[in-house]
Amino acid sequence: MNPKPMLELENLRMYFPAKTGLGLRKPTSFVKAVDRVTLTINAGETLGLVGESGCGKTTIGRTAIRLYDPTGGRIKFDGQDITRMTRKELKPLRKSMQMIFQDPYASLNPRMTVGDIIGEAIDIHGLYTGAERTEVIAGLLERVGLAGDHINRYAHEFSGGQRQRIGIARALAVEPKFIVCDEPVSALDVSIQAQIINILEELQEKLNLTYLFIAHDLSMVKHISTHIGVMYLGRLAEHGKADEVYENPKHPYTRALLSAAPVADPDAAQAQKRIILEGDIPSPIDPPPGCRFKGRCAYAMGKCAEGDPELTDLGGGHKVACSLYV
Ligand SMILES: Nc1ncnc2c1ncn2[C@@H]1O[C@H](COP(=O)(O)OP(=O)(O)OP(=O)(O)O)[C@@H](O)[C@H]1O
Ligand SMILES: [Mg+2]
Repeated sequence: MNPKPMLELENLRMYFPAKTGLGLRKPTSFVKAVDRVTLTINAGETLGLVGESGCGKTTIGRTAIRLYDPTGGRIKFDGQDITRMTRKELKPLRKSMQMIFQDPYASLNPRMTVGDIIGEAIDIHGLYTGAERTEVIAGLLERVGLAGDHINRYAHEFSGGQRQRIGIARALAVEPKFIVCDEPVSALDVSIQAQIINILEELQEKLNLTYLFIAHDLSMVKHISTHIGVMYLGRLAEHGKADEVYENPKHPYTRALLSAAPVADPDAAQAQKRIILEGDIPSPIDPPPGCRFKGRCAYAMGKCAEGDPELTDLGGGHKVACSLYV
């Protein structure tokens, strides 16, 4: 069976006007949060999108589901071009595209009951009413491992992990096809993280969901991702099947990220040469020409200061944007 594209981004750009020190807009400078990103996520797949803070992960997620109006490029969702759709045109598609947020304390109103939180999504799309609505909510709670009779309890009565389960139930309430999971476990205790990832994985299988799963580091998404995208300063540095990227990383930045990840086996840890990333991620405001990683790259050479390298397919869909390979 041929893979069916769920999300297709083509040269996607999302720029924000840069602010001056006084908080005023500087109309000639832009934060290039997402700069010409091209990628496809097929139905049933999970793209793990990783990179340091500020590299544009959340902006890609939010722009992909049209919570922002993109500056340029194209977004196709489930075969439809949604790049310039109006709010009204988007409304019937909204329920197909949901988001789970990083901080379940900030994203759920503590003074609302669980039933109200999940019911709100159901009501917006006019899906169920009355007894059926209550039954659906109880069913959703059970699906994410909570008791159906928690429906009348307030969000503040739950722990972080339980709140994230409520956030997942809210996203599922409208029967989405695609979910942006924006660092859904980063704010939780390590002991809880695996539980939440397992739930997301189970749900994906049962409901045939497609995920864009955002995380800071590669170790977090290893288990759940079919594909990996590595971002650096608004650009996609590497993209490919998860096994390929973990076993055979090509971009010097991906290699550095992988070498920084903790290794369980002490012998392997010894053998693994750590690549220390020097310096901070530069500002995404009007980035200088050339490769954006060059200032921190051990392999930087003359041509890295010239063109910004484009993603090149090295074979089998393993793509890298680096002058070492062209
Ligand atoms: N609404 C906005 N207005 C102006 N600038 C923004 C806006 N949202 C994001 N940015 C800027 O765009 C860049 C990318 O931000 P984004 O939140 O997408 O990064 P991120 O990779 O999700 O980071 P983190 O890992 O910290 O969540 C940052 O420089 C950020 O300051
Ligand atoms: Mg983010």
